[in-house]
Amino acid sequence: MAIKKSSQTFIQKSSEWIRKPKKSDANLKDYFKTYQSFRWKSVEKEFDWHKTGKVNMVHEIIDRHAQGARKNKVALYFWDPASTQVYPRGRDEKYTFLDLKKSSSRFGHVLKKCGVKKGDRVAVFLPRTPELYISILGIHRVGAIPVPLFEAFMETAVLDRLSDSQASVIVTNTALKGRVPFEKLNHLKGVILVDELEVSRSENQDNEPACDFCDVYNYFEEMKLASESLEPVWLNKDDGLVIHYTSGSTGKSKGVLHRQYAMVGHLQTSKWVLDLREDDIYWCTADPGWVTGTSYGIYGPWSLGASSVVLGGRFSAERWYEAIQKYSVTVWYSAPTAFRMLMAQGKTLPKKFNLKSIRHICSVGEPLNPEALRWIRAITGVAPHETWWMTETGMHIICNFRSLDFKLGATGRPFPGTYASVVDDKGKEVAPNTLGNLVVKTGWPSLMKEIWKNKAKFDEYFELKGWYKSGDSAYKDKDGFIWFAGRVDDVIKTAGERVGPFEVESALIQHPAVAEAGVIGKPDQVRGHIIKAFISLRPGFSPSDHLKAEIADFVKKNLAAHAAPREIDFRDSIPKTRSGKIMRRVLRAWDQGLPVGDVSTMDE
Ligand code: WTA
Repeated sequence: MAIKKSSQTFIQKSSEWIRKPKKSDANLKDYFKTYQSFRWKSVEKEFDWHKTGKVNMVHEIIDRHAQGARKNKVALYFWDPASTQVYPRGRDEKYTFLDLKKSSSRFGHVLKKCGVKKGDRVAVFLPRTPELYISILGIHRVGAIPVPLFEAFMETAVLDRLSDSQASVIVTNTALKGRVPFEKLNHLKGVILVDELEVSRSENQDNEPACDFCDVYNYFEEMKLASESLEPVWLNKDDGLVIHYTSGSTGKSKGVLHRQYAMVGHLQTSKWVLDLREDDIYWCTADPGWVTGTSYGIYGPWSLGASSVVLGGRFSAERWYEAIQKYSVTVWYSAPTAFRMLMAQGKTLPKKFNLKSIRHICSVGEPLNPEALRWIRAITGVAPHETWWMTETGMHIICNFRSLDFKLGATGRPFPGTYASVVDDKGKEVAPNTLGNLVVKTGWPSLMKEIWKNKAKFDEYFELKGWYKSGDSAYKDKDGFIWFAGRVDDVIKTAGERVGPFEVESALIQHPAVAEAGVIGKPDQVRGHIIKAFISLRPGFSPSDHLKAEIADFVKKNLAAHAAPREIDFRDSIPKTRSGKIMRRVLRAWDQGLPVGDVSTMDE
């Protein structure tokens, strides 16, 4: 798709500078000097495999520490104050590196009992709990590949991801298992249900067997029986690490497969961008269903032996501030929508909490608008730093660094060892301040290995020779700052999450009243964008608010709540090109009440 001025952004150009902290104690001392001399090879010696030749992520992020001085250091603080049947007072737990070594070994044995072998895919469909993290670590231990699925996914989303990845086992719980259409997933061999026995035996629960043809195991029962030691299955640097499903502008979501070697990128960016140190208490608010929740919720911070906080349950401004105070969080990694949601709750609330422990904040997922940056700085004393990257890049690429002043609104500078630039549609670098395609020179350690079973999709990212094409538009200013401008394609970012319009349209047309549907992202003050659908109805149905609500709810129940349209407009027909492609530029013009231009030319 050709580069165009994007309407999808509310970034404000500014020449205001955000100054670095006065106490200049950042891990990366001199960005410019380092940028000239840094070589990725130099990071390899941080890992045991550099000496042994034996690679496995779980060894480098857990066992290595559990066998050394960090053995009794807390790796994971977990807090979920919500009261449940099994946890009437909520959960408030700590796990040391040694604890995680033992529990992930136990889980490895459970997986082996299910027949899981090296390279197999294991889906993890759980809420943010310690068991989710232990499952992922256990999957690594047996050399298999985790496929983390957002807790919010409904049946269609789960079905698409499980059938594409051909996962042999799924780890889930009684509350979520109803969304797994087992009858359509005959490649599944095992189901592991993470339910406290009280829950699974309770009369109130759904006691239907999860799956007729697979073996069903109870997590806690099996964990009790299993041995707490299990050597990792040794892998090569190039073997699979994790698959994250993510949306593009066309087709269903695709599986981005990363390799074990990505750990080199995770470690170094965690050191220089997140600025993590031995005594930090680090809180990444992202769920492992999203790449931020694995690269920087698991792999990077634990490769450095940092202590991580995980908060369970839904968003609540009060509980977020309380978590910062409770753990004296020092480094905080979150997203603009979250900052704006905190902002919406006002300034009185944060005053009730002590947020002084924070020394560094990073932001990801969408552009951080100046108001949100200023607001977070006002309540914590620390300005959030942009980090731009993608599921496919596996690690931070363009960032503002703690040891550098930066321009308010700028996305940042390339990480040492990477080269990011702006090019025209032929791959030629453009002059400063010219809008173009945001690209990265190929050859950094965490770049995806493949798109699962889809070589053609994978190749599309590399059609400009020597470059990885992000699908974002941007420009570079004279001082070397890159400014994100918007998406070149039709991918929607809502509350930081990537949603493909095709996936939503496919869900919409399953509804009996919907004849055709076209979906776009509509700019929104809090969420960045919301999902807006234009719908034409089948004969016999007439537009009404009731029908709008029913259709939105239908998508919520089948796909996921965050993918459901927040706005629906009914139209007689949906504009399409001759080849049947939805003309989203017309939908955007409709939305903004602008003239649509000449539709009769029907651009292909
Ligand atoms: C957007 C994984 C502006 C961008 C981390 C990118 C951002 C897409 C930023 C990737 C940022 C991410 N500023 N935009 N700091 N970070 N994006 O794979 O459009 O879910 O292409 O993110 O998010 O989405 P993904």
